[in-house]
Amino acid sequence: MLDFHDVLATRLGGTRDTAGLLLIMGGGLVTLLPNLPYWAWAGGGLALSLAGGALIGLHFASCIRIKRFGGACGLELNSDAVPPADENGMSIGFVGDTAQELVIPPAEWTRHAMIVGQSGVGKTVLGQWLMLQQIERGGGLLWIDGKLDPANLEDLHRACAWCGREGDLLVINPGNPALSNTYNPLLDGEPDEIAARCGALLPEAEANAGADYYRQGAINAIATLVDAIQAAGYGFHFADLQTLLTSANALEALASALDARASGRGDARMRFSLFIDQYRRVDRVTRKHEIDTNELKRVFGGLGARLSQFGSGGFGRVMNTYSPEVNLFDAVTHNKIVYVMLPTMGKGEAASALGRLVIGDFRTAIARVQALPESERPNPPFLGFFDEAGSYLTQAWSRMFEQARSARLVMVPAFQTRANLAALGDELVAQVAGNTLTKIFFKPGEPETAKWMADMIGQEMQEQRSQSSNETISARNASLADHMRGAGGTLGGSGDGAGESRSARLGYRVTPDDLARLGKGEAVALYDGAKVYKLHIPRVTFDDDFVERAGSFKLSHPAAAAGAPGLDIARMLPSASEQEDE
Ligand SMILES: Nc1ncnc2c1ncn2[C@@H]1O[C@H](COP(=O)(O)OP(=O)(O)O)[C@@H](O)[C@H]1O
Ligand SMILES: [Mg+2]
Repeated sequence: MLDFHDVLATRLGGTRDTAGLLLIMGGGLVTLLPNLPYWAWAGGGLALSLAGGALIGLHFASCIRIKRFGGACGLELNSDAVPPADENGMSIGFVGDTAQELVIPPAEWTRHAMIVGQSGVGKTVLGQWLMLQQIERGGGLLWIDGKLDPANLEDLHRACAWCGREGDLLVINPGNPALSNTYNPLLDGEPDEIAARCGALLPEAEANAGADYYRQGAINAIATLVDAIQAAGYGFHFADLQTLLTSANALEALASALDARASGRGDARMRFSLFIDQYRRVDRVTRKHEIDTNELKRVFGGLGARLSQFGSGGFGRVMNTYSPEVNLFDAVTHNKIVYVMLPTMGKGEAASALGRLVIGDFRTAIARVQALPESERPNPPFLGFFDEAGSYLTQAWSRMFEQARSARLVMVPAFQTRANLAALGDELVAQVAGNTLTKIFFKPGEPETAKWMADMIGQEMQEQRSQSSNETISARNASLADHMRGAGGTLGGSGDGAGESRSARLGYRVTPDDLARLGKGEAVALYDGAKVYKLHIPRVTFDDDFVERAGSFKLSHPAAAAGAPGLDIARMLPSASEQEDE
């Protein structure tokens, strides 16, 4: 292994920055060269990356003041000592001033991580680095991609191919159903869980009692319907649900199906009768109590329209299935690699609704895994990478972290601003910050987020020296005790001149301005509450040769698990033309 001083002595052509970056990337490349024995993978790749990291460290030293090297001021940050190496840990990058790899130990990694930074700074690149490690070790993952780049699917495919795991890759891709596995987020869970998931399709209720009342009414109605469908022994999809909420005949058909299946769930039948009785009116001609379709449409029309968006078009092709190829519980317990591509072009609303649906479904899967005996929980821990989570965050997140941890699932949300979380309440901000042991901060996009990051990194006692010239120098990243003892090593040449006065005050360990100086692929990591690191994140690339051999992504079709028979409510209706007459 290269010694740090050897690394420093290494001569390379070009500027140090470029060389350092290339080396880190080269380190990644080496690991991706085909047919290399393991020692070369680890040794060669790591050594190159380390060397690169070291040179990058030197780069920092030139524009960033680091105690070890002295020099001009930029981001003043002496990284803490890295945790002991652990091959089952998760590497999140290389420490800027020592080139050591920061590997989060396994137990700490399951206490989750969050990634924050403005657009285009390297959040997804970091996610890809984490995912490559996860795939390499045979683990399962769920990647919800809120900002689709067409290259992402091919890159993920290559990462899988590199590890011989193409067969484990499943995609949910309503933007291109021809390149999508099938998925139905309405099959797993209790009626109220599924109803809450559908509630995700409705716009978040503003501080408006009327909107909230409507929303809750709609969610309750869905819960009653789901309860009835499950009691009748069927699975269902969005198109079924939409038909049920807008058609009297469909509700009557479900009532008959429920009667035919009368077993045990009498309460479901009673609730369902009470529910549809609310919409019955006496027909003036026949004197019969019939469900009034117009009333139904008046109450649920809005929800029906949203459901129909999921029951038709690209979404419908992916999701109108009773035996889906993707099942999240199965994915978690069988280490599958699930890539959810939220369509972004012109379908923003539906895309974020899909994100919220998948999260709701994932939460149900987590609860089921939590109930499994220890030996059946995912090993290695499952990885959930929620990219651009700001567009599909829900309240459900607040309790997911704790559940996920005991189920051996690691949650890694990446988002841009504090406001992304605060939009759902300060409670969620506190939950996400409080439940992520590892925090990776990239360049923030605006002051509020910068201050939030700096606050989380924390403050420390810093010494201020005022000289007679009235110049104030503050010493950061050095303990107050050191200075009081007169160690004062951080202040370089300033010396203890006459007329100098010293005072102590609390100051940011990393200021919001410091954070704004971070470049692409650079981050400040906060680990375990108090340990701070300046990091350089490696970027995974594949050489042309391998790209050619891996070929392009091809769908794999796993055998779908047998579930309950499909409701297919449209087929139960008297006839399609009668429907249209209504
Ligand atoms: N660690 C890195 N090393 C080299 N280049 C990087 C790194 N991180 C990001 N970049 C560059 O920045 C671009 C944007 O990064 P990306 O991860 O997509 O940003 P974000 O997800 O934060 O919007 C990448 O395509 C790449 O060119
Ligand atoms: Mg991104």
